[in-house]
Amino acid sequence: MRLRSPGVSHPLLGSVTRRFRNCSEKGSNEVSFFPILGISGPATAPRRPAPLGAVARVRAQVGMRPPTVHVATPVNEREMHTPARLMLVCGSLQRRSSNRAAVDVAIDEALASGFVVDDFDRLGDVPPFDPDLQDVPPPVVVDWKTRIESSDAVLIAAPEYAGAIAGAIKNALDWLVGFGSLYRKPVAVISAGTSGGWFARQTLAQTLTWQGAYVVAELGISAPRTKSDADGRFTDRDTIESIHATARIVLDAISAPPAELAARATTLTEALGIDSGHVAPIA
Ligand SMILES: Cc1cc2nc3c(=O)[nH]c(=O)nc-3n(C[C@H](O)[C@H](O)[C@H](O)COP(=O)(O)O)c2cc1C
Repeated sequence: MRLRSPGVSHPLLGSVTRRFRNCSEKGSNEVSFFPILGISGPATAPRRPAPLGAVARVRAQVGMRPPTVHVATPVNEREMHTPARLMLVCGSLQRRSSNRAAVDVAIDEALASGFVVDDFDRLGDVPPFDPDLQDVPPPVVVDWKTRIESSDAVLIAAPEYAGAIAGAIKNALDWLVGFGSLYRKPVAVISAGTSGGWFARQTLAQTLTWQGAYVVAELGISAPRTKSDADGRFTDRDTIESIHATARIVLDAISAPPAELAARATTLTEALGIDSGHVAPIA
């Protein structure tokens, strides 16, 4: 289990709330952003924290969650003392994986923004889903379920294989259905692959929505190898910024009012051609 805590607080957690598509040129990324709080701002808004002020320094020292601009949700005891947690999952088992590279960029953003990240790297150990085993699931499934349920938001980056989402992540998600582990949880989906993984994102968002997750952001990265260095790390600035922005949306969603989450998920699912009637109702 890889669990990492932020090294610094981020007093200026930004909201990228502009919806746009940027897929005009070959090899470009396809991005959808949907507003949570209706605060408009350019996608290129400053990303890194400003120098920490005295108050922020104290908050960082005592491990408090960074203040956000969102005041709709009352700050409860847990939020005062525990940074929110982002679970990240790479849906590729390949060693030199573009989706792994996307997860790594998202981790950087989450840590820089003051969140705890949990990087689930046991996907290849999850056995084929078997409903007969649901009452006493294998230990790796218990680990998967427990970590998903204790996260405040999830980001999944997974490849497209033969026009659909990669089987390993679909299989792992199937184990969660009976537990409702993803119900009303904000999730971002990314697919890096030859064509940008539209079908991967569509089928992933569909199965997540069927499980009751709120899919609040999605990003396609086409021709990823042309945007990476020899080690597979993304070097293309636009791509890195798009991943950062996608991560920020799902992180912001943690403190967004439920009605905003449902509205965002509805807009996103409709844009992907998914029946929004399956979007979970707000409590
Ligand atoms: C069996 C197989 C099927 C694939 N099918 C598709 C596809 O349908 N659409 C697509 O855009 N890319 C497809 N690809 C290319 C992958 O998306 C690409 O290799 C991607 O980088 C894999 O993700 P990873 O680098 O994270 O492992 C396929 C690759 C393989 C090996």
